[in-house]
Parts: sequence; structure tokens; C-alpha cells
Amino acid sequence: MVGVPARTLLALCAGLLALGVLTSSCSSPSATPASTSTAAPPRAPAPALWGDMTPIVSVKELMRDMLDPASDYIFDSVSSTITKDGAVDHVPTTQADWDKLRAGAVMIAEGVYLLKVPRPFAPPGDENNSTGPDPEELSPAQITAKLEKDPVLWNAKIEALRNVGLEVLDIVKRKDVKELWDASENLDHACENCHLEFWYPGELKLLSRLDQKLRDLNGVRADRARTPGAEPKKK
Ligand code: HEC
Repeated sequence: MVGVPARTLLALCAGLLALGVLTSSCSSPSATPASTSTAAPPRAPAPALWGDMTPIVSVKELMRDMLDPASDYIFDSVSSTITKDGAVDHVPTTQADWDKLRAGAVMIAEGVYLLKVPRPFAPPGDENNSTGPDPEELSPAQITAKLEKDPVLWNAKIEALRNVGLEVLDIVKRKDVKELWDASENLDHACENCHLEFWYPGELKLLSRLDQKLRDLNGVRADRARTPGAEPKKK
């Protein structure tokens, strides 16, 4: 292509790109009009996934059989019992203890992403405790509708739980027993904050009413600017 003005070459490449008949001479970085071309990139981007992902169980079963047992690896790693000699703390001490904790953290951090794979919320025929005058739980259909209305919120709750998994992984690396207590509490909040939005939001309103009562009892003036039902907001 010697003698062809650069601008013509660029236009030609852009045209070829648009036609999808790109040649290697056009894909060299100097000849690709990256900023102006609306054509497809010359090379297919790395795939988002290495293969298809298909679910096997419902969200409810994924909770019961994977995330809940995994979280126990973390919850059970620290505890305090009251004995006649006072409080005795149980914390990880052996390498096996830390290995188990790391396994729990990995299962949480990786496993929670399975909640991004569309799947039924409950097994067929299971309507949760969603009937009656004051149902405790949303039905699977109601949860689905909530998610479809606000997928960003659903994903935020997923990322929040993943972050706790990462926090625990970091703690395991440093064998920092002290921070493990906080992490265990953060884990509890991450689970609960999603449940309060998507599983039993009625409790959120109840908590909000109780909160208001407490404020009234304590003589604190109610903050009218707050959105009713939007609290208490945990971190
Ligand atoms: C992104 C949201 C989300 C996060 C995070 C989450 N859950 Fe859930 N969980 C749900 C939903 C939604 C249901 C109700 C599904 C249904 O019954 O339709 C549920 C249900 C459950 C159940 C009931 C299972 C049964 O057999 O009835 C358990 C137990 C549970 N979750 C534990 C946990 C634990 C432990 C964590 C944290 C480690 C957690 N969940 C994190 C959304 C979440």
C-alpha cells in the first residue's frame, strides 16, 4: 500500500472493518482508527465465561446446601463460652483450623457468584411462608419480580458478601485472630442485609417501627427527612 495517503488508508481500513473483511495490514495498531471507528474490534474479546453456566438447584437449596454450611466454617471458628472461671474464647490455633477457615472463605467468595446464574428461587411447588394475612416471607414470584426490578441491588448484595469472603481470606493470610471477630459479624450482616431486602422485607419495616418507638421513648425528635421503611440501614 505504498503511496496511499494515510487518511485514505484509514478510511479504507474502517470500511473493511465495517464489512468484516479485515486483513492483517489493517489490524496493525498504527493503521486502526480506534477513536473514530464504530466497527467491531478486529479480534474477539476474551470470553466472559469459559463455558456455559447452568444451575442445578434453586436459590433456597443453594443457601441450605452451600452458602449456609460454608458460612459455618467462619461463624464456628470464633466463639466465647462462659465457664465458672469466666469467658473462654475459642479461636483458630492449629494450621488445620486456619485451613478450614480458608476453605469457608473460598466457598463463600466464589460460591456467592452462583447467585448471578438465573435459577428458580425455590423448588417447584414451594411458595415459602408467603400466604396468610401477614406473610413472613415473599413468594418466589415476588422475589423474582423484586430482582428483575432492581438487579443492581441484587448484585450489590452479592458483592458485599464476596467482600467478606475476601476479608476472611486476608485474615487467614495474616492469622489475625482479633479481626476474625469483626469479620464474623460482617458476615452475619452481609447475609442478613440481602435477606431483609429480598426474602423477608416485612421485618425491615418492623425494625424501622421499633427503631422509631425507641427514638420516641428516648425523647429524640423523629427525623422526618428519612424515608419510611428504608431503615435501619446497616453498613
Ligand atoms: C444476594 C442475596 C442473598 C445473600 C447474600 C444471602 N442470601 Fe440466603 N437467601 C436469599 C434468598 C432470596 C432466600 C430465600 C429463597 C426462597 O426461599 O425463595 C435465602 C434463603 C436462605 C436460607 C433458607 C434456606 C431454606 O432451606 O429455607 C438460608 C439458611 C440462607 N439463605 C442462608 C444464608 C447465609 C448463611 C448467607 C450468608 C453467608 C446468605 N444466606 C446470603 C438471598 C441471599
